[in-house]
Amino acid sequence: MDDSTLVGVQKTLAPVLKTKALDNRLPDPILGDRYAELAMRRLDPDYDRRRFGTSQMGLVAVVRAKAHDDWARSFLADHRDAVVLHLGCGLDARVYRIDPPATVDWFDLDYPTIIGMRQQLLPPHEHYTLIGSTVTDLTWLDRIPRDRPVLVIAEGLVPYLTETDVRRLLTRVVDAFPTGQIQIDTASVWAWRTSRWDPTLRKYDAQFHCGFRDPAALARWHPRLEYVDEAPMSDSPVLMAKAPANVRRMYRLMNLLPGMKRSMRLVRFRF
Ligand SMILES: C[S@@+](CC[C@H](N)C(=O)[O-])C[C@H]1O[C@@H](n2cnc3c(N)ncnc32)[C@H](O)[C@@H]1O
Repeated sequence: MDDSTLVGVQKTLAPVLKTKALDNRLPDPILGDRYAELAMRRLDPDYDRRRFGTSQMGLVAVVRAKAHDDWARSFLADHRDAVVLHLGCGLDARVYRIDPPATVDWFDLDYPTIIGMRQQLLPPHEHYTLIGSTVTDLTWLDRIPRDRPVLVIAEGLVPYLTETDVRRLLTRVVDAFPTGQIQIDTASVWAWRTSRWDPTLRKYDAQFHCGFRDPAALARWHPRLEYVDEAPMSDSPVLMAKAPANVRRMYRLMNLLPGMKRSMRLVRFRF
């Protein structure tokens, strides 16, 4: 099993997975995701022999995953009958990290190729369903029970969709469920407009298709949708406390540039 069958945006799951696996090697990890290591070893039999260096500049992706997990745990503590829609799941092991109670039904959605990889690389879980579909073809919503609170998690997904598709997705979800929480991360307008020249995205044949100056304003898309709050990313206290010193220094420098500091935003809504 390898990732050579992935095309375009699908390839973007690999660097995020690697960063999560490398975090697990830190003496005091931020996320501590042993399943990311498990998936990396199965994807790359030489994983343990490779020298990845010490830069770990991607650690902000781990901070993002931790913030999504913390928000999800607090929602599920109050809504033990919830349905979870984890969209653009990639090979992320959130369902194992959170290990929700049996009263929760969890759905992981990504392109069929990625879902096929998940089935080979990661173990099954109770009350857990995989959906192989593009998120933009909303017929997948017909397979989800509608009469329960919903938790929508989209980590590292929204920038790859068009604004029209994001709006259709969010408004359809709010229309379909009685109550819920939606947690997403978005790119800034600047990060979106320059994404076609971003060397990392170019490497994966991917680019962003939307960006937002003020992601809180997305709440205006639906009268029942309400902005709750934002979690810190590159200036997060956990990053500054736990990242290796060279990584902390780089992030402190980058944070001096307002465009860089706010290039990705992590926001939560409820309805
Ligand atoms: C940057 S990766 C993030 C993966 C995972 N959420 C994580 O944080 O580890 C982006 C993911 O979104 C998925 N994706 C992008 N566009 C999608 C679409 N239209 N439908 C379903 N999945 C999509 C990709 O296949 C990929 O797995």
